[in-house]
Amino acid sequence: MPAKGVHVPHGHDIRASGLRLALGDDPRVSVLDGVDFVARAGEATAIIGPSGCGKSTLLDVLAGLLRPDAGHADPGGQVALMPQGDALMPWLTLRENVAMGARLAGAPAPEAVERADAAITALGLAGFGDHYPHALSGGMRQRAALARTMLAGRPTWLLDEPFGALDALTRAGMHDVLRDLRATERPTILLVTHDVAEAVALCDRILVASPRPMRIVDDIRVGGGTPSATVDAVMASLRTAGALA
Ligand SMILES: Nc1ncnc2c1ncn2[C@@H]1O[C@H](COP(=O)(O)OP(=O)(O)O)[C@@H](O)[C@H]1O
Ligand SMILES: [Mg+2]
Repeated sequence: MPAKGVHVPHGHDIRASGLRLALGDDPRVSVLDGVDFVARAGEATAIIGPSGCGKSTLLDVLAGLLRPDAGHADPGGQVALMPQGDALMPWLTLRENVAMGARLAGAPAPEAVERADAAITALGLAGFGDHYPHALSGGMRQRAALARTMLAGRPTWLLDEPFGALDALTRAGMHDVLRDLRATERPTILLVTHDVAEAVALCDRILVASPRPMRIVDDIRVGGGTPSATVDAVMASLRTAGALA
């Protein structure tokens, strides 16, 4: 169901070229080692790679939170980052947390609350607006974080393992929510996941990342074959990259 008051402007392609970054002091750990890719505007692109390979670091670079040692990151317009974990403010109600997204988009407070309520209803959270995050299930918190991301009105959505902590049924429900959103709005999505089936179910393209230090080692278009053939292709690529060790 489209959510009233949501407007996601069109952005342009996300581009990473030659991104290099080392973190820490002694010794500095190379995390990004020449990361190159283009994620097309209006598409959903997955980045799949093993735990610790540098996926969250890459999103931080694209969001402008970390400066790369070398290379260039163009996020394709203003960014809404949905960080790993729901990152809701525990002292704010669900409605207030979601309204923060609309405030970011410049809506005055009363309108932000109105938009938050519309998004809360659209994402199946009606009746829970006055609840605090601790009183919500993991799935409900992720819905709220997605609602906040959506209301920020930014063309580029960087989603860091948004459904990773959810049980399988709740995750399937969240996939429907994201698919419905994509049917009405066309944000440029970069979705980090370590779930191959999720990437195939939700995305137009899958970029396969090597173990740390990260490089993009494969670029697989979804829809070129059956879903199970695509899963097999991604698994083969991860195996070749040494990501299944
Ligand atoms: N501030 C830091 N100092 C040193 N190493 C770090 C720092 N932040 C992250 N790392 C290391 O960088 C690697 C990539 O981290 P991260 O981007 O969170 O991986 P992913 O999201 O793919 O699981 C990890 O090995 C992590 O230990
Ligand atoms: Mg991470």
